[in-house]
Amino acid sequence: MLAIEGIAEAGSGHPGASFSAAEIMAALYFRKMRHDPSNPYWEDRDYFINSKAHSAPGFYATLALAGYFPVEEIKTLRKLGSRLQGHPVRYSSQQKEHSVPGTEYSGGSEGIGLSVSIGIALANKLDGKKSRVYTLIGDGESNEGQIWEAAMAAAKFRLEKLTAILDRNRIQQDGFTEDIMPLDPVRDKWAAFNWNVIEINGHKVEDIIDAINKANGVKDKPTIIIANTIKGNGIKHMTNNPQWHGKAPPRKHVALLLEELESECLIAPSIIAGQPQNYEEKVRMAERGGADMIHLDVMDGKFVPNISLFADTIGKLRHITNLPFDAHLMIERPLDHIQDYIDARCDIITVHVEACDENSLSQITDRLLLHGISPGIAINPTTDFPEWLYGYLNKIDVIIVMSVNPGFAGQKFLPAVLPKMMLLNKELRKHGFKGYIEADGGIDSTTLQQVYSAGARILVAGSAVYATSDIHGAIIHLRHKANVALEKSLLDHADSLGIKSDWMKARKHILIPFSNELGIEEDIHAIK
Ligand code: DX5
Ligand code: ZN
Repeated sequence: MLAIEGIAEAGSGHPGASFSAAEIMAALYFRKMRHDPSNPYWEDRDYFINSKAHSAPGFYATLALAGYFPVEEIKTLRKLGSRLQGHPVRYSSQQKEHSVPGTEYSGGSEGIGLSVSIGIALANKLDGKKSRVYTLIGDGESNEGQIWEAAMAAAKFRLEKLTAILDRNRIQQDGFTEDIMPLDPVRDKWAAFNWNVIEINGHKVEDIIDAINKANGVKDKPTIIIANTIKGNGIKHMTNNPQWHGKAPPRKHVALLLEELESECLIAPSIIAGQPQNYEEKVRMAERGGADMIHLDVMDGKFVPNISLFADTIGKLRHITNLPFDAHLMIERPLDHIQDYIDARCDIITVHVEACDENSLSQITDRLLLHGISPGIAINPTTDFPEWLYGYLNKIDVIIVMSVNPGFAGQKFLPAVLPKMMLLNKELRKHGFKGYIEADGGIDSTTLQQVYSAGARILVAGSAVYATSDIHGAIIHLRHKANVALEKSLLDHADSLGIKSDWMKARKHILIPFSNELGIEEDIHAIK
């Protein structure tokens, strides 16, 4: 979001590449790298070399959010006298006030950063340091011969602490990489240069973290992570379109682009629903169907009458998938059991407000945050949001607003929760809540659109996924309905800004498949 604000303000910049590498940079700076924003050149830091330097707006946004400089400075992108130039610059120590804090390397000329990384990795090796070097390279950048000279050299020196990450978005300045200079079979090329090769979806943070962990365990070889990405990911009409390699969006579209970036919906199938059957199979089917997370309903027979699954079952499911585990604990005294769910490696752990007091919730959130787990709080349909909980909004990532009374899958959605969800969403945002609202219970293709309009962005679906014969189709259908809801909301927003037809023009190829459901068939075909 910061990147798009900066680019629109500057009137130029590279939105496409900033978005294709957003998750890679976030995973490095917020999960994996050892670094200290208050001491950018700390001796024992890990290094990030942004070799494909034109992803600068995304890089600056990451540095700002990590605390290297104030986020407002993004608005000075590409302005005269600003530190934030089109390509990041690191000046010599005599002029260091001009450097962007945290920048290791001046980029712009493509193909050089990997060689610089080798120099750093070799120096660290001589000094006996544990520091790792992560280098982001582009697929257009891989046309440069120097990349392949560096590939040979890094293997020769057995630089196991060097990891290159290829942002494989398949688009470079003037077109598609495979038309301009084919890179495939890219895996075989790097393997032939004697690198350890890992290929992943570069937009799945969990897969990026897993790949980096694996790279860090390899001995005697550098690793390349081939991150398959989508240029312009996050803004539908910019994706996979070479036109958006280096073009700024019009300023009047910024509010809509920010809305879209904030509207990502995550679909979380609840595996207790449907026929009682093998949970492993249900998790696998959800993953194959394109689910974003796995929702795990834990019921203890006390907080709710039913008993479902517990931490031991979750622990056994953990090795099957990298998809985030969204554990919903419908249990009494959650503090007494929380460690079991931490040990089972859940990614989000949600406890019920009805089962906690302020003291236990405070201990639970602290414990979860210490382990890098997102804390969540769930609230029953008839429970009021307690006043004391406002004090914890900055520590909570997820708020589940139950749309059925907890206890069973397959219940009917309670429409009375919609105004509550809408109001809560508004109130909580006003009080600084930056996490997700999650709707849980009775979500199907109709109610999904209602909870979307009320602000929910994590959508739990039990029966709508597992009580059907086509699980893959059911997930696709739910995602389609979430997309319709997004397009409708964006169109309404554009209308309120008086730029509806302009927006429809920019987004025509995206809107056409939805035009019937949005009731804009005639309007869209009238646009030239
Ligand atoms: C209810 C659970 C829900 C439920 C979802 O207590 O928290 O997650 O199982 O299933 P459906 O979508 O069938 O309501
Ligand atoms: Zn649930």
